Amino acid sequence: MVRPSDTINAARALAADLAESRERTLKLIAPFDDGVLRGQHDALMSPLVWDVAHVANYEDQWLVRALGGPIIREGIDDIYDAFKHRRDERDALALLTPAEARAYGETVRVHALERLAVADLHPDGANPLLRRGFVYDMVVKHEHQHAETLLASIQLLPPAEARRLQSVAAPTGMAPDEAEVRVPAGSFMMGADDPCSYDNERPRHVVDLPAFWIDTTPVTNGDFEAFIVDGGYQTERWWQPAGWAWRQDTAAVAPQFWERDGRDWQRWRFGQRDGLRSAEPVQHVCWYEADAYARWAGRRLPTEAEWEKAAAGASADPTQANLGQRYLGPAEVGAFPAGVSNYGAHQMLGDVWEWTASDFRVYPDFVAFPYREYSEVFNDEGYKVLRGGSWATHPRAISATFRNWDWPVRRQIFAGFRCARDDT
Ligand code: AVJ
Ligand code: FE
Repeated sequence: MVRPSDTINAARALAADLAESRERTLKLIAPFDDGVLRGQHDALMSPLVWDVAHVANYEDQWLVRALGGPIIREGIDDIYDAFKHRRDERDALALLTPAEARAYGETVRVHALERLAVADLHPDGANPLLRRGFVYDMVVKHEHQHAETLLASIQLLPPAEARRLQSVAAPTGMAPDEAEVRVPAGSFMMGADDPCSYDNERPRHVVDLPAFWIDTTPVTNGDFEAFIVDGGYQTERWWQPAGWAWRQDTAAVAPQFWERDGRDWQRWRFGQRDGLRSAEPVQHVCWYEADAYARWAGRRLPTEAEWEKAAAGASADPTQANLGQRYLGPAEVGAFPAGVSNYGAHQMLGDVWEWTASDFRVYPDFVAFPYREYSEVFNDEGYKVLRGGSWATHPRAISATFRNWDWPVRRQIFAGFRCARDDT
């Protein structure tokens, strides 16, 4: 078969991307012994070794079997199907051992590369999965997403284990002069139409918004501490009824991983207990906490349309945004002035995922591709949309149009927020 050189180069680049995401996964789990990798350390997360075999199984399904390849291993699809078993039940399954999971991943990769060598990646090729390398990009991004999940699991390990990850301090910054930027009224194109976007970003469509203001940076630890000091966690009127119920049930008085130290706060991060840096974006808050803070501040969360419009032009270049796990936490606000959006908003991409006011709903004229379980089954189920990626998100797996979602009570993810208000 004769292949034009551009497809050969595209295939080589995809093989390198697959290698990079696997390297990341293996590096994250390398410091931990089998007992730690196999253990269920928190009801919200899977055993680490489940994620490792899950990404291999996903690759097996999409890059081997869906492309006509052989069955490599019988009887494990059920175990690694995220819809079949809740995270807190995965510990009880007959999981592959860490060594078996690594070996399975290697075998799958050999077969995946064999198929890639003959894949028709042309934009008008016969198989829609292969056009412009869609399915390869999907598998690469999937593994990067699970690298972030692994980090959330590691953050929940006992400190003596979690601190095995080596961390480098994230950059400091100078807070921008203006606290908010104004986004003028007008329509914009929401969503993506590039061939490797997700089904839930499509179709690209016109959205018209009135003028609004949005914070120049994410809300910081210092900002959030003022809410705590002002009795924010004890004041019902700032909270949605369901948020107040969450507050009462959990007795939360601060973001997750914060710990009182006299009048100050310390926070646990990857097994280290440090003083809070007040200029860092707050993370490990749930949607209800973000929403309550915004109401206390006389403001509101941005809708996801507002967020996306304000983020246009923000850079995902690793030198202009805190992405890709270079640091194990957010950088101070103002640390990446070169990455600002067209409207002057800082750190829209990277640092912390940002909760928005919006429920996760598919866009008008949505068509599920390539499988309903990626997005469609989450439609209108009460998930809140998060935008922008975190310090743990790979640059390839984020853009101003990428949509993430989670339950409004979740805060083990690397999420913070910024506020907005109407233009009055
Ligand atoms: C889109 C980030 C919510 O992590 O559950 C991973 C991505 N889908 N495996 C998730 C995903 C299948 C998903 N999020
Ligand atoms: Fe997955």
